Amino acid sequence: MQGNFSYHNPTKLYFGEESLNYLKDELKNYGPIVLLNYGSGSVKRNGIYDQVLAILNEAGKTIVENPGVMSNPTLEKLHEGVKLARENEIDLILSLGGGSVCDYSKGVAAAAAYDGDYWDQFWLKQQDPEKGQKILPVGCILTMAGTGSEMNGGSVITDTEHMLKVGHVFDDRLMPKFSILNPKFTMTVPENQMKAGIYDIMNHIMEQYFSDTDDNTSDYLSEGLMRGLIVASRKAVKNPQDYEARSNIMWTATWALNTLIGLGKRQDWMVHMIGHSVGAWTHAPHGYALASVSMAYYRRAMKPGLQKFVRFAKNVWDIQGEGMTDEQIAQAGLEALKSWMVEVGLPLTISELGATDDMIPGITAGTICYPAGYLDLKPEDITEILKESM
Ligand code: NZQ
Ligand code: ZN
Repeated sequence: MQGNFSYHNPTKLYFGEESLNYLKDELKNYGPIVLLNYGSGSVKRNGIYDQVLAILNEAGKTIVENPGVMSNPTLEKLHEGVKLARENEIDLILSLGGGSVCDYSKGVAAAAAYDGDYWDQFWLKQQDPEKGQKILPVGCILTMAGTGSEMNGGSVITDTEHMLKVGHVFDDRLMPKFSILNPKFTMTVPENQMKAGIYDIMNHIMEQYFSDTDDNTSDYLSEGLMRGLIVASRKAVKNPQDYEARSNIMWTATWALNTLIGLGKRQDWMVHMIGHSVGAWTHAPHGYALASVSMAYYRRAMKPGLQKFVRFAKNVWDIQGEGMTDEQIAQAGLEALKSWMVEVGLPLTISELGATDDMIPGITAGTICYPAGYLDLKPEDITEILKESM
């Protein structure tokens, strides 16, 4: 293991079909006023909202409702939530939804007690709240598997006016205090969102795996998670109601991005940087935006990261490689990844998401570039990747 690190993850998880039963115990730890954030109505249609509301009412909580947190939450909506939190002396922010609602809740939690321009400070300047700043506690009831937001400090917000989608990974004060993961709740997720979530999970693991050259325990954990995800995804795509598969996907999502497998690694995250900009321009589901640029990106990374790509081919895709050169083995690994993406039903081009040639300069300009993984990309390289992904 390279580097020095500390590890502390404060999020308490409740997992399984019975997990919502634990909400009433958690609520005892907080004051009476709850800001209930949720999305555009799925939780009302599938009945999860009613279940949660009954528990909140039974616990005697005063509920401040904040519906309409959209997928890829906007800065404008963040302002609304901050205003609500400030006006109502909130004791707990409860996120009811997918990664978007959870990310948004963390954003409100950080910004509510910050006096200055929180967008500039936390997202554009990538600062954390100062020590001593009040941060509202966040609890999460997750309804969609993918982002890992339920056990990390990430909060991705889109400034629609400037077409900028920016994520900040806050320190552990912003990680949810508790998260409730009931795989049954994910059964009503639309098929395209389920698939987007599956690729988001895969790519989170790849973003951490494809960096460095040392032998690292984190990489063995990553290979196990990828293998499990591939098995579960194939079952879930065939039968979305397969509880075993959906529960494994949900659990893998959490471990794919709760900081564990990134320990001791420099990590990459450039597919996410490009994908976020593609998302800001096309409004595609996050995982679809990632999938659409992945092949062009990894073809580039393969040469400088050859040995890791060989390992990926052998340990994740079971390519034996007898009589093949390292380049051929690595290439076969990428082909296996691509076949799996086709099997899951993921987009392989940005044009499938509605991107057009005239958007390429804007998507390039919105992509944050830095030396990462095995590459040090400049804006002109991003443009090339986008053209190859058309
Ligand atoms: O708006 P509602 O009604 O909630 O509908 C949502 C939304 O339309 C729907 N949905 C969720 N659960 C459902 C359901 N529909 C039916 N039944 C259910 N049980 O699915 C749609 C997508 O939900 P969303 O929360 O947007 O998806 P996801 O969980 O993929 O979150 C995406 C956001 O997370 C960010 C992304 O950039 C994007 O903004 N990310 C956050 C990360 C983090 N915190 O670490 C890392 C990721 O890389 C990612 O960037
Ligand atoms: Zn992601």
